[in-house]
Amino acid sequence: MNTYKYKHYIIYSLPPFTMYGFPIIYTAILLLLSPPNAALQELLRGFTATPDSSLPVSSFQPLLTDSIGNYSLAFLRVDRTHLALAVIHVSSQVPLWIAGKSPLAPWSSQTRLSFNGSLVISHSHTGVFWSTYTDGHRVRLSNTSNLLIESEGESPVVVWQSFDFPYNTLVENQNFTSAMKLVSSNGMYSMKLGSDFIGFYARFATNSGPDSDPGRLYFQHNPMETKAHITKGEGPIHATLSPNGFLGLYQNSSNQVDLQPFSSFQQPGTGNRIIRLEPDGNLIGYYWTGSSWVVDFKQIANPCDLPSSCGAYGLCRPGNSCSCLDNRRSYSSGDQCETSGDDFCRKRYRVLRRSGVELANKEIMAYTMMSSLEKCERACEEKCTCWGAVYSNTSGFCYAIDYPVQTLVEVMDETKMGYFKVREGAGKDKMGVGLWVGLGSLCGVVLLISGVGGVVLYRKESRGVKGYEEEEGINGGVGPYKNLRSASSKSIELSER
Ligand SMILES: *[C@@H]1O[C@H](CO)[C@@H](O)[C@H](O)[C@H]1NC(C)=O
Ligand SMILES: *[C@@H]1O[C@H](CO)[C@@H](O)[C@H](O)[C@H]1NC(C)=O
Ligand SMILES: *[C@@H]1O[C@H](CO)[C@@H](O)[C@H](O)[C@H]1NC(C)=O
Ligand SMILES: *[C@@H]1O[C@H](CO)[C@@H](O)[C@H](O)[C@H]1NC(C)=O
Ligand SMILES: *[C@@H]1O[C@H](CO)[C@@H](O)[C@H](O)[C@H]1NC(C)=O
Repeated sequence: MNTYKYKHYIIYSLPPFTMYGFPIIYTAILLLLSPPNAALQELLRGFTATPDSSLPVSSFQPLLTDSIGNYSLAFLRVDRTHLALAVIHVSSQVPLWIAGKSPLAPWSSQTRLSFNGSLVISHSHTGVFWSTYTDGHRVRLSNTSNLLIESEGESPVVVWQSFDFPYNTLVENQNFTSAMKLVSSNGMYSMKLGSDFIGFYARFATNSGPDSDPGRLYFQHNPMETKAHITKGEGPIHATLSPNGFLGLYQNSSNQVDLQPFSSFQQPGTGNRIIRLEPDGNLIGYYWTGSSWVVDFKQIANPCDLPSSCGAYGLCRPGNSCSCLDNRRSYSSGDQCETSGDDFCRKRYRVLRRSGVELANKEIMAYTMMSSLEKCERACEEKCTCWGAVYSNTSGFCYAIDYPVQTLVEVMDETKMGYFKVREGAGKDKMGVGLWVGLGSLCGVVLLISGVGGVVLYRKESRGVKGYEEEEGINGGVGPYKNLRSASSKSIELSER
């Protein structure tokens, strides 16, 4: 709160009204007293701040700003009641980084952020929520959105930086190493580097093991290796978003082994690109036009390749529409076709069969060879941690689904057959994702506000989407895959005839 003291001091030390006109002083006092402008350019030892209880729910409280004013370290109000310490892109209010995600501290006067060498979020009753555990001299926000803690001295050394602990977003030139991961705002999806690929992982079950377990691999990007090859044993790879408009993969800091160009490839505009792992599991690149974020890149181009494009027990039809695996059920976006959740070790289930279906990205899914559909089904039936199985009568491949059933892909091949366990009992429940939903919807709202233009632009470019223009227009900018869901009413009408 030394901010306020300092500014009051300035006001009191101004010469009397006789020297300057009253209106100037009046304006100056108004400007100096308004808390939203109270952000500093550095925090020194002894700094503390508490959240402002009068702050509007959908707002943020700036604490520290970078030299240009593009970014702000701020208290972000999450789910009305919780506080996240975030680095925010000010113009769009999009959070690029969040500290201490689980658990979040309450938004209360008992919660405070302090800097005593460590940057610490603590609560007077429950203690420390998050700390950098450093011995630094000052905190600064770089003009690239990197939160830095620096040592004392002539040439300060960075002792801690937020770029080492990414949230769901990477900015230009941020080094994404194999020790890091991106996690989507709903906590379900993560991105990690393998020894020679970018892996995307999902955790659908509520009790799906320790945090260190990334979950099930649902998508994999393999480098093109046109310029250089990955040499096994020659060290880990890392990824960087280039200011020239591409996502590059490198081995040994300089050997470029992959380049995924964005729509804005080689267009100038340093500092204008981010990539973010979205709540639907896609990695999306955005370009800042000066007034909105425009979609610039999509890691997963085909929506049916997303792990849950049509929700649990949904069916994705190439050409972009959703229905339910159970034909008798109608699909409605935002709802699951069937209740999904924990395994069947203590739960009763019924069986749902559907032919003409396969798993998305089945190339990376494990399978066993079985001589018949019956054998494939029985293997799943006998295992209570199996949610279902997909069998190909022509190849004999049996894919066991050892995670809560998500979206399957429709194929024009009746020899591909699916067997699914469905929980008995009425009532649909949503998957427990807790506070992440708050963060997710917050990001969603922010994007809704800032990204309408971008989404419209994106639609013009998206591949393989035909015949949904009118519906997209009405839906208005909730996000590319929302359209896919809303479009499903069409398919239901057709299938009921
Ligand atoms: C900084 O504050 C935290 C939380 O109050 C405390 O645990 C820590 O020991 C303090 N560090 C120093 C160097 O005083
Ligand atoms: C951002 O910071 C870097 C290094 O501190 C500096 O070289 C650069 O000019 C700054 N950019 C702007 C736009 O101020
Ligand atoms: C990024 O990280 C890799 C692996 O740790 C390292 O080799 C490389 O020098 C780093 N690059 C930059 C620009 O920091
Ligand atoms: C950063 O600020 C500069 C100068 O105001 C502006 O031109 C640029 O678009 C901003 N960049 C972002 C990403 O907001
Ligand atoms: C599966 O293959 C077997 C033997 O090749 C055949 O008898 C059977 O009719 C096929 N079933 C379907 C549903 O195609």
